[in-house]
Amino acid sequence: MTLSLEKIINQKIALCFQNLGFDTKLAFVKPSDRPDLSDFQCNGALALAKSQHKNPREIATNIAGELSKDPDFTKVSVDGPGFINLSLSDEFISRVLCAMAGDPRLGCEKVDQPKKIILDSGGPNVAKALHVGHLRSAVIGESIRRIEKFVGNDIISDVHFGDYGTPMGMILSEIMLQDGNLSKTNTYNIEQISDFYKRANARCKENDAEKEKASQITAELQNGNQEYYKAWQHLRKVSVDAVKKNYDILGAHFDLWLGESDAHNASLEVIKIAKDKHISEIDDGATIIRLEESNKPKPPVILLKSNGGIGYQVTDIATIKMRVDDLKAEEIIYVVDKRQSLHFEQVFEAAEKLGLAPNTKLIHIGFGTVNGADGKPFKTRDGGVMKLEDLIEMSKDKVRESMPEAKDLEGFASIDEAQKYIDTMVEDIAVAAIKFQDLKNNIASGYVFEIDDFAKFEGKTGPYIQYAVARINSIMRKAQAAGIKAGDIIITNREERELALKIAQINQIIMRTHEEKEPSIISDYAYTLAQAFSSFYNASPIMSAEKPELAASRLRLAVLTRDALKLLLDLLGIKAPEVMLKK
Ligand code: ARG
Repeated sequence: MTLSLEKIINQKIALCFQNLGFDTKLAFVKPSDRPDLSDFQCNGALALAKSQHKNPREIATNIAGELSKDPDFTKVSVDGPGFINLSLSDEFISRVLCAMAGDPRLGCEKVDQPKKIILDSGGPNVAKALHVGHLRSAVIGESIRRIEKFVGNDIISDVHFGDYGTPMGMILSEIMLQDGNLSKTNTYNIEQISDFYKRANARCKENDAEKEKASQITAELQNGNQEYYKAWQHLRKVSVDAVKKNYDILGAHFDLWLGESDAHNASLEVIKIAKDKHISEIDDGATIIRLEESNKPKPPVILLKSNGGIGYQVTDIATIKMRVDDLKAEEIIYVVDKRQSLHFEQVFEAAEKLGLAPNTKLIHIGFGTVNGADGKPFKTRDGGVMKLEDLIEMSKDKVRESMPEAKDLEGFASIDEAQKYIDTMVEDIAVAAIKFQDLKNNIASGYVFEIDDFAKFEGKTGPYIQYAVARINSIMRKAQAAGIKAGDIIITNREERELALKIAQINQIIMRTHEEKEPSIISDYAYTLAQAFSSFYNASPIMSAEKPELAASRLRLAVLTRDALKLLLDLLGIKAPEVMLKK
């Protein structure tokens, strides 16, 4: 049995259609476009009329006649060419909401057929500190991971560490250039390794021969050169440790820490399959797969470089093979910068040609860039790349502006303890501010980093939603102290009704977010829900309610709002502090 208001209405409509002999496929409603006139509307009569060659208004009138017998609908009207508008009885709304309140999932459903999904997000690289460009992949990926899990899918996230490309040879060559050999490599920390990479990058950018040399060293590393391999292991480990620290702060969880290098054997197999099936060919010494060019020119996929090196494309194809064969993936979702769209088109097409994933859905969710006010990718004030760590520090500084000082806090044994408490809170809010600002934007479009507003406690921000939760927590504590218990919902004014209807949408919102893989649907909803709560609470105080039943009803609505907001924040990967301090 469903606890979703919209679905319960759909079931009523379906029954009515069935009684009238109509196709029940068209028996569904949507929230009304004119909430001032009705709560829901059903447009099924229009399509029915077409297939039955009848007047839509006549069909709609028939349906409306049947539906108006149901006491859960206070008004059923036919408008325009045949729209059916429905108003719900307050009693019906209350009943559904009380049932939702008794369910830890707030009436939210799971998918009918759970799937095994592999999520490929993060995509950090050896020797490169995480920067703002990596933010979206981790933040969007984490939200998608949580949403898919919540709706019942079996989702495994894999960070797909970039540890096997030309940059490896570049760093090794730079160390050898500076030190004469690789003997000191295992003493280097992440800052030093990043420096080597930066210098190597500058050198190779200007000089093709240097780049070719680096590519050659990478090929030798891949083909088992022990000296390179030992040094590389250290570079990889130090980089993984550094990246993990950042992801921990961001709250991005990865089940698997596999890298491109883990696909080495599978890459060799892929190359063999391609040869055996005569899908590949040799071109200028390299082994390639040519692709269809129906709509636009698509460069071939390079399986093996002429120097024997394995590249980005083949590791991705091989990783698909591993995820299908070993992990039984039914769906693979890549959350990667949309500038890599062509890469994924190539990889998916090659995988299809090779027959590696015949029953697996491959999805690239391409995101836009995080931009500065000038519309170009976000930079530091001096024009450098903005490191994720620096961004988090910057956000913390902003949040601190709204926080009281440790010495002004009461109830702590020492000032140090108070400071610790504040610091944890500042970090939770600062991370929420960054994440929400990312997740409130449509994935595919880039967005401008709202440097002045993203960490404010008002407006469409993470801290605002967190604050709404903390405020309701405080209301609940006060109500409890006054002996008020949540009870049946009695709707007495417009604000209560609007809040109740808003809460009742949660299942549809989460399901849509899952289907469209677009967390901004949840962010929008969370924001409007928090706003609806504010209006409600202004109109309907709890402590000074006229009657005890009304206090109990309003407390129920408050608790439901709090639980809904907490669930939504959790699905966005954002923490909801129990208490929020404010200056
Ligand atoms: N490391 C890559 C980069 O920085 C991103 C990896 C994305 N995932 C993948 N399976 N290709 O561009």
